[in-house]
Amino acid sequence: MIVAIDGPAGSGKSTVAKIVAERLGFRYINTGAMYRAVAWKANNAGSLLKDELAIAQVAEELNIEFIPNPDGQKIIVDGVDVGSQLKSEEVGNGAATVASQPQVRKILTDLQRKMGQDGKIVMEGRDIGTQVFPNADKKFFFQADPEERGRRRYQELSTKGESVDLHEIIDQIRKRDLEDMNRSVAPLVQAEDALLVDTTHLGIEEAVVRVIELIGPEDAK
Ligand code: DC
Repeated sequence: MIVAIDGPAGSGKSTVAKIVAERLGFRYINTGAMYRAVAWKANNAGSLLKDELAIAQVAEELNIEFIPNPDGQKIIVDGVDVGSQLKSEEVGNGAATVASQPQVRKILTDLQRKMGQDGKIVMEGRDIGTQVFPNADKKFFFQADPEERGRRRYQELSTKGESVDLHEIIDQIRKRDLEDMNRSVAPLVQAEDALLVDTTHLGIEEAVVRVIELIGPEDAK
């Protein structure tokens, strides 16, 4: 059983995918973290993010492990626990740049297919149901209004003590959506057979319950 969850930033897909995987006893793979890890590694090595050959080399040599722990998951890149470093705005912007490079996408897509080949997996990203596992058993597409996604991001950053402007964040989200949807390789689109989950007015637990119901407890074996 392969569960594919796609959707834009702030739609709640990572939080929900992680909990769904835990309840089903499946592995959880956050593919955004893989693009982020490539950008992080390239930054550390001083490579230019636009240098496609150098970045493809970084992706080829990426050694990433997802290790479940009581707080959710540890992400280890080349033996280093990178956790919060991958979440920075700078790494996120770098990830968007490397994610537009076809060679990087091919390398990471191959790696994702390998990671999922034994099934019992919830894989989450932008192109899982369309490119990585077009034959996934269950596909979901998460969505939420940009204003609501902006509020979520605003809260996350405010909690960390960062001073941020809500309108600016909403504008950035709209801009990132356009970039993701208009990218020439693997644009963000809902797979035809994906079920739409709109989380604008849905709490985390409600979304988790809905996804598990739609998977069907009998199928999740
Ligand atoms: O979900 P995220 O913000 O961690 O993703 C980081 C970047 O990687 C974002 O620009 C979208 C891109 N991405 C992608 O192109 N394909 C995926 N399967 C996952 C993420």
